[in-house]
Formats: sequence, structure tokens, C-alpha cells
Amino acid sequence: MKSTWIMAVLLVSTGVEARLFDDGQLSKMDAGYREECGSCHVAYPAAFLPAASWRAILGSLDDHFKVDATLEESSLPAIQTYLKEHAGRDAAPGMQAPPCITKAPWFVPKHARVRGAGWPRVKTLSNCPACHLEAESGRFARIVAKGR
Ligand code: HEC
Ligand code: HEC
Repeated sequence: MKSTWIMAVLLVSTGVEARLFDDGQLSKMDAGYREECGSCHVAYPAAFLPAASWRAILGSLDDHFKVDATLEESSLPAIQTYLKEHAGRDAAPGMQAPPCITKAPWFVPKHARVRGAGWPRVKTLSNCPACHLEAESGRFARIVAKGR
């Protein structure tokens, strides 16, 4: 049973792996995106969600996870282009695009064990830099505060 579960995790995660954990994320990040979308939280790399998810997020900035994140109209096109061009893979046919990163199918199994002892206590897993010490630089691979 256990190995079946691990296989399932591997299958879910490998699709995003190659692009996601690429240290080149930062150089690809649009400066306007980093500024506008990195002021309240870390500027999440585009590859963590499929384009459809980003479209939905940009389409509802006035009601953005319970806050108003409306931007200047003029800064939107560059942000749209960055997110579209560097988005992760689309959801499998028939599957809904995830509403956010922490509910994405690749994210959940990767973070199944971080709620217990030994990990930084975070109010929300959305606070990536609490554990991924180099998240601001776009690096998430195996850089965690504790454990391992
Ligand atoms: C006014 C503050 C603010 C701005 C500006 C803002 N956000 Fe957010 N965003 C939030 C809050 C609050 C959350 C909820 C998560 C949390 O607890 O930090 C959130 C969550 C998210 C999430 C989901 C993270 C998860 O939990 O999976 C994504 C993706 C996201 N924002 C993208 C963006 C993008 C793209 C922009 C720029 C267009 C942006 N945000 C601008 C406040 C903001
Ligand atoms: C409470 C701590 C914690 C928080 C908060 C957290 N992570 Fe993680 N993350 C981990 C741990 C632990 C791993 C597993 C590391 C491993 O097994 O190599 C991980 C794994 C990952 C991986 C896979 C890295 C690899 O090389 O396999 C990515 C990508 C990732 N997290 C992104 C994020 C993003 C994006 C956020 C914020 C939306 C986030 N994490 C928030 C602890 C955290």
C-alpha cells in the first residue's frame, strides 16, 4: 500500500518537477510582476500553477483571497504575459484548474508532513519563505528551514 501511495505521489509530481524546481525561475520573472505581485507575499513563480489558474486569479483581483489586490490597469499586460508564458502544465483533461498553489495537486503531497513537530509553525502554507529560505530568489528545491 505504502509503495502504491509513493508511486502516486511521484506520478503527480514529476510532470511539474523539471520546470518547477529550476533555479532559473528568478531570471525569467518579470520585474513588474515581482513588484506588483510580490508586495503582500512572495512573488510566486508562474510555473506553480497552470495558465487557467492564473487567468482566474488575474480576473478577480478585486476579491483576491479576501483582500483587494486591484492593480493599475497599465501594469496588467506585462504580468499577464509573464504568467502565461511561464505557467505550469495544464490540469489533466476533466480536472479543474487549481484555485491556488497550496491546493494544487503537486503541492499537497509534497507538504503532507510539514504540519507536525520539527517544522516552522506557519499560519498558512502560503507563506513559502518561512520554510523555503530562498523563496524570494525563486529557489524552492530542498531548501527548508528544518527537518531532513
Ligand atoms: C494587497 C495584497 C496582495 C497583493 C497586491 C497580491 N496578493 Fe496574492 N494573496 C494575498 C493574500 C492575503 C493571499 C492569501 C494567502 C496568504 O495567506 O498569504 C494571497 C494569495 C495568493 C495566491 C495563492 C497562494 C496559495 O495559498 O496557494 C496566489 C497564487 C496569489 N496570491 C497571486 C497573486 C498575484 C498573481 C498577484 C499580482 C497580480 C497578487 N497575488 C497580489 C494578498 C495579495
Ligand atoms: C511549513 C514549511 C513549508 C512551507 C510553508 C512551504 N513549504 Fe514547500 N516544502 C516544504 C518541505 C518540508 C518540502 C519537502 C522537501 C523535500 O522533501 O525535499 C517542500 C517541498 C516543496 C517543493 C518541492 C521541492 C523539491 O525539490 O522537491 C516545492 C516546489 C515547494 N515546496 C514549494 C512551496 C511553495 C510554492 C510554498 C508556498 C506557497 C511552500 N512550498 C511552502 C516545506 C514548506
